Amino acid sequence: MGNVYVLDHPLIQHKLTYIRKKSTGTKEFRELVDEVAGLMAFEITRDLPVEEITIDTPVTQAKTKTLSGKKIGLVPILRAGLGMVDGILSLIPAAKVGHVGLYRDPETLKPVEYYIKLPSDIEERELIVIDPMLATGGSANDAIHSLKKRGAKNIKLMCLIAAPEGVEVIKEEHPDVDIYLASLDEKLDEKGYIVPGLGDAGDRLFGTK
Ligand code: PRP
Ligand code: URA
Repeated sequence: MGNVYVLDHPLIQHKLTYIRKKSTGTKEFRELVDEVAGLMAFEITRDLPVEEITIDTPVTQAKTKTLSGKKIGLVPILRAGLGMVDGILSLIPAAKVGHVGLYRDPETLKPVEYYIKLPSDIEERELIVIDPMLATGGSANDAIHSLKKRGAKNIKLMCLIAAPEGVEVIKEEHPDVDIYLASLDEKLDEKGYIVPGLGDAGDRLFGTK
């Protein structure tokens, strides 16, 4: 069964508080989402394999560690997932980035896929699907199915905030996928918004309404 990790590091939780606040404007919201994504990436990459190599320091020869070449792919779900990409790339600059375009139909709340573009070797990569919000779980579920249909084998899901309903959907449909969150919130409201949540992540990131 996939594990659910809530990353309750004090820096993540502090910044998340300001992300949630209604009074936080677009510029600050964007900067904070970026920063939290970077901090979360630090935790998510904790189990990356390393190998020992021998190097010359200015003083002597030393056996030291280096990443053993595991290939990573980031897959933001458009559009709000884009807000987390740069923060992660600042830690893993060599990662390739694919995109899945999905929006929630406001009536049915069902996701509609409108775009997909992925690295050619996704089956060899460890993919991190990124979206600030896991609400009903429909978008992330569809995105993960779409990646698996195209050969992806190794997937993690990273979201800022999730509702229990969305987590259950991913656990049931994708027991192989570990979920990383900054917060597991209380519930969904009747419009499918996460409570207490942060409102509409895409609109707050891009200043739309
Ligand atoms: C938001 C969010 C997720 C989705 C979560 O996207 O960024 O992708 O809703 O909801 P779900 O778990 O119920 O599917 P939205 O559809 O508003 O599109 P946007 O990113 O383009 O604003
Ligand atoms: N999408 C958002 O942007 N916010 C929510 O609370 C739920 C879905």
